[in-house]
Amino acid sequence: MTGLNTTAEVAVIGGSGLYALLEDAEEYTVDTPFGPPSDVITVARVADRRVAFLPRHGRDHRFPPHKIPYRANLWALRALGARQVVAPCAVGGLRPELGAGSFVVPDQLIDRTSGRAQTFYDEGAVHVNFADPYCPVGRRTVVERAATKGIPLTDGGTMVVIEGPRFSTRAESRWYASIGGAVVNMTGHPEAVLARELALCYTAIALVTDLDAGVEGEQGVTQEEVFRVFAENTERLRGLLLDVVAALPAEADCPCRHALDGVEPL
Ligand code: ADE
Repeated sequence: MTGLNTTAEVAVIGGSGLYALLEDAEEYTVDTPFGPPSDVITVARVADRRVAFLPRHGRDHRFPPHKIPYRANLWALRALGARQVVAPCAVGGLRPELGAGSFVVPDQLIDRTSGRAQTFYDEGAVHVNFADPYCPVGRRTVVERAATKGIPLTDGGTMVVIEGPRFSTRAESRWYASIGGAVVNMTGHPEAVLARELALCYTAIALVTDLDAGVEGEQGVTQEEVFRVFAENTERLRGLLLDVVAALPAEADCPCRHALDGVEPL
């Protein structure tokens, strides 16, 4: 991989409703072997870290979840030098206690997407370990920073990632809960595995915007509800993100960094 690889250290991929994060940022237009990323990437200093920000859906939300250029996004952030990725996203709660406005730091993922390009390795034998999809150091940092800021947060839970763009039926939603899902969304995969394939640390921060259709008494999810609740919580999320990127240890030696040990690098 070639490029501007000392420009950033940490990256944030913003979800629905989080289209900007950094002040006084430089803008980078990056191209990749997989085409352009979702948008221009902004880079600025936060505390003593160089932080890149990329809005996952584009600044004007032009990419629906199944059309996001996930490979280009991860590649571009890595090309700018990022080694740690923090990924906020909107999710539906699959359990009544995970209501709108709750934060969850997932520790597991179930992939129910289909047809998305989910690897950089279309040739040869490269099979990364994905048993634990999220970075333990990143997860711990988010949990600690949220506690310090007095933000209630659930530490752990399985995120079910559906293809969308429609929301789930009640039967699907009940089934996701019955197989152990805590929250459901449409963008968590293949983002997490592509980060792993580049040996990046990847930490999801899930903001619950609704209770999903299978939860007793719910009417079914609407897009308006998802966007409204995300917007109501953007400032809390922004504060948490800025604290987290400043607190992430630069020299962490976590398993994510060794995902490509013994593999011919791209
Ligand atoms: N994103 C936010 N809420 C969601 C839900 N209920 N299902 C899938 N993706 C979501």
